[in-house]
Amino acid sequence: MKPSILVTRAIFPDVIDRLAQYFDVDSNQEDAVLDAAALRERLAGKAGVLANAADRIDGALVCALPQLRAVCNMAVGYNNLDVPALTAAGVVATNTPDVLTETTADFGWALLMATARRVTESEHYLRAGKWERWSYDMLVGMDVFGATLGILGMGRIGQAIARRASGFGMPVIYHNRSRLPAETEQQLNARYVTKDELLAQADHLILVLPYSPESHHAIDAAELAKMKPTATLINLARGGIVNDAALANALRARQIFAAGLDVFEGEPSVHPDLLTVPNVVLTPHIASASEKTRRAMATLAADNLIAALDAGPNAGHPPSVINPDVMPRRR
Ligand code: GLV
Repeated sequence: MKPSILVTRAIFPDVIDRLAQYFDVDSNQEDAVLDAAALRERLAGKAGVLANAADRIDGALVCALPQLRAVCNMAVGYNNLDVPALTAAGVVATNTPDVLTETTADFGWALLMATARRVTESEHYLRAGKWERWSYDMLVGMDVFGATLGILGMGRIGQAIARRASGFGMPVIYHNRSRLPAETEQQLNARYVTKDELLAQADHLILVLPYSPESHHAIDAAELAKMKPTATLINLARGGIVNDAALANALRARQIFAAGLDVFEGEPSVHPDLLTVPNVVLTPHIASASEKTRRAMATLAADNLIAALDAGPNAGHPPSVINPDVMPRRR
């Protein structure tokens, strides 16, 4: 008998077909939103799950599911998983790093450019029929070329963003939990600074750090007050890293120039104050959303699940395990 798995959200049908070669697949191709109770119900008796970053898989759920052996996120971020609880229970957890790095870095730049140069605000202005004539101060923004780029969180995506900065002649400063090796700093032309220096010196500040209790509200009213009034802030990482209410206040008060947000606290809800300030560009968590990259993410998540449940050509060796300690004593 094939092991049973759940795919919590709609994904490419051919990926479902591939999973079906190895598993009895309960798929959610109708893409119904599974709340915590529905998720628990659908997971009963399943050996594995191909999950989405919005599916909360915590200690209580893991304890209630003794047959669960693998949780495979279709996302690089995994703050939706209680990794210590999964590890303690002997459940393999995986994510999808690398395949989305460049696409996400591209989108960081798209959001930065749109924010600094007021692209969406300009389009709304035009569509509303307000464009009557040229004027010297119409929708003026902040320069990107030559400005100082600040990056908070210098992992794979932060580094891919930094690499792109040379074409814009931008000095790059960064802050990270651990400083990069000197050789990498040199290759990226990036200078390590304290968090306070980063806030004070960046003309455009991009957030690409993982969400954790330590990074909760890493950008709050006090941090926003340290930024330049001409600065922009881009959140590409996770909701909750920025205090969205404090950001809306800072934007309204013109304490900073503008913000670009792809992620939100409590998404898909968006703080109502952010919807009423003009100097913010808002996108619905689409940084990795290119056709090619979403396919690569789904394929990697499926590869992880097949291998984690000891099937397929890499049986027992999932390519991107978050908790490798679990492998010798997994369920
Ligand atoms: C998307 O947010 C991801 O973590 O892959």
